[in-house]
Amino acid sequence: MPPKISRFAQSVPGSTVVAMRRQADALEAEGVEIVDFGIGEPDFTVPEVVAEAAIQAVRDGRSDYTDPAGLPALRAAIAEFEARQHGTETLPDQVTVTNGSYGALTAIMRGILEPGDEAVVVVPGWGPCRQMIRLCGAIPVEAAMSAVVSRFVIDADAIAAVITERTKAIFINSPWNPTGRVLTVEELSAIADIAVRNDLWVVADEVYSELVFGESRHVSIASLGPEVAERTIIASSLSKSFALTGWRLGYCIAPPELAAVFTKINHTTTRCAASIVQYAAVAAFENALPDVAAMREEYAARGRAVARGLNQIQGVRCPIPEGTFYALAQIPAEWGSSATVAEMLLNKAGVIVTPGSYYGPTCEHFLRLSFATSMPVIEEGLARLREALPPV
Ligand SMILES: Cc1ncc(COP(=O)(O)O)c(C=O)c1O
Repeated sequence: MPPKISRFAQSVPGSTVVAMRRQADALEAEGVEIVDFGIGEPDFTVPEVVAEAAIQAVRDGRSDYTDPAGLPALRAAIAEFEARQHGTETLPDQVTVTNGSYGALTAIMRGILEPGDEAVVVVPGWGPCRQMIRLCGAIPVEAAMSAVVSRFVIDADAIAAVITERTKAIFINSPWNPTGRVLTVEELSAIADIAVRNDLWVVADEVYSELVFGESRHVSIASLGPEVAERTIIASSLSKSFALTGWRLGYCIAPPELAAVFTKINHTTTRCAASIVQYAAVAAFENALPDVAAMREEYAARGRAVARGLNQIQGVRCPIPEGTFYALAQIPAEWGSSATVAEMLLNKAGVIVTPGSYYGPTCEHFLRLSFATSMPVIEEGLARLREALPPV
């Protein structure tokens, strides 16, 4: 018998999204044409100015380690971007540049959680967040939100109800994967009140901050006032907004004392984010915002098309997405568990959707559809769903 694997590591389950994609790969190998509404990854190519800046950085031989906090020019660009776009008073020494927001979130967890601590996670929510908490030996405590007319909303009482003396932090995500919601000032204020009252950190995952549609506005919880700003840690990245997922460039923003801790953690665990990508990211903030706006417009149109198509299917209800690139559709309970429905759709129709159960218990009779795919693919996928889903 080999020696034991860490029990924290063993408590981490595999990803449903990855498992479904692998199943689809096997079907694809047999000749099935798959429509992928599963993966949360932009289908757009990297903005030209960003690609050029990366190539230039390679040619200029920018291949050394950078400061573990990130290139000074990039930290300044991020601070300026955050202050301008989201009204948060951010200074460069509050910024740590990381490997995607995965890197930001793992540094944050390690920086604030100890074994046995509890961290409240608003669910439905992105699975890896709970697993990262587990890897620190801490306990993710789910605060389950409910849907009101098929639309998930923040229930402050449900959050307050799970806080104990061991709670260290509340994790939120707005714009909100998988719901497609953008939290309102009222919802954020209610969370801020709980955090201040109980002296907790607020970890705000704002990775979809630039993907907000129509009348909705992204508000950073850190912008609500000094009392909440001093306890807020933001995690973000260029993955979703600039179509740079595989480039792995993210950042966290925290009060300077804590930011210094995150930089030490970054140094210890990954040394620094890739130098070439950091140079390209400076160009992204300087010159690629028009590309971001164009992608946002396209996502908004796709989100409306997906919701419209889903609402035409009997028994399915889908609010128009306010942000992210996900639509979350409620399905009838009599169709069975969301995992069963997702499995049936993959095998019968060759369509990948993510079962709501992956995101939390109150999301059982929901399916998440990523619309980070082209309009013709979306139309094809919707036609297959219409055909495959049972009559009510
Ligand atoms: C809510 C949320 N946070 C964080 C991430 C991580 O993204 P990245 O590390 O590419 O920034 C994702 C990716 O799907 C996500 O949906």
